[in-house]
Amino acid sequence: AFNLRNRSFVKELDFTPKEWKFLLDLAAELKVAKYAGSEQPRLSRKNIALIFEKSSTRTRCAFEVAAFDQGARVTYLDPSGSQIGHKESMEDTARVLGRMYDGIEYRGSAQTNVETLAAYAGVPVWNGLTDEWHPTQMLCDMLTMREHSGKHDEEISFAYLGDAHNNVGNSLLISGAMMGMDVRIVAPRSLWNAPEVIEEAKRIAEETGARITHTEDVAEGVAGVDFLYTDVWVSMGEPKEVWAERINLLKPYQVNMDVVKATGNPKVKFMHCLPGFHDRHTKVGEELYQQTGMDALEVTDEVFESKHSIVFDQAENRMHTIKAVLVATLGG
Ligand code: CP
Ligand code: NVA
Repeated sequence: AFNLRNRSFVKELDFTPKEWKFLLDLAAELKVAKYAGSEQPRLSRKNIALIFEKSSTRTRCAFEVAAFDQGARVTYLDPSGSQIGHKESMEDTARVLGRMYDGIEYRGSAQTNVETLAAYAGVPVWNGLTDEWHPTQMLCDMLTMREHSGKHDEEISFAYLGDAHNNVGNSLLISGAMMGMDVRIVAPRSLWNAPEVIEEAKRIAEETGARITHTEDVAEGVAGVDFLYTDVWVSMGEPKEVWAERINLLKPYQVNMDVVKATGNPKVKFMHCLPGFHDRHTKVGEELYQQTGMDALEVTDEVFESKHSIVFDQAENRMHTIKAVLVATLGG
């Protein structure tokens, strides 16, 4: 077993590949225990702060339910409800919250914010998404891939289509490399991961045996994969002005039934961290439609609602995997 007590999780590389696999095994155990009604609370009397400078449905709820299931209590700090960033620095916030709480989750823009929190809080700090990384999402995604492929980690292949210059694109590349997977980044060159991130992934791959491919060619990129994965084309915090250019660049990378067929794998599964634009059922979806005539962006409704789609199994796993992080870093 691994002792991860008091460790922070601000980026994928805070844990070794072996520690990742341990966390995934722990998440699977906790999931079984919850389903069986035999879960043992290991976080009694722990207090957890949840700082969200960007909005959230899954991450916030996953942290809250995971904490409650394990006997811990949470305080939610919303983007406007605290002094953070306006009147008080990250250093001071960290030192205050560290006196009251046993652990702190942070979601916001700058990766340096979550790193400063971790450096000053004196308690574990977990990254609930920054502009650069989305590490808790990755534990969820790797667990979901294990469950749905039934394969060894090293045998799993996935293609990520779309904006590979964002948090999810970076995190999938690095975590896939750490797991020894066959990782395909399928995107226009200008939206590939930054060269340093690609270098890092290749360095990791030398140790884990991962295969890393970057390609602009959809047919080549998706051939034979177990999983197709996409994310929004414009992330939280990006200005509206980028929409038009982004849509133009990424149109050929939409996950539609042609892409599903191009995998040649009739059992290929579709994944998305969510939220996603696949219909007009939201305010932004309708606005987009009025402006562009497109009623879906990164994935069509047909694929999203098809038998290939495992997006809600994936969403559920946010909770089980975040619980594993809380138990491993705070539990007795
Ligand atoms: N996938 C994800 O992080 O979703 P939320 O933004 O709803 O937390
Ligand atoms: N790339 C997306 C992920 C949302 C979970 C964003 O940052 O908005």
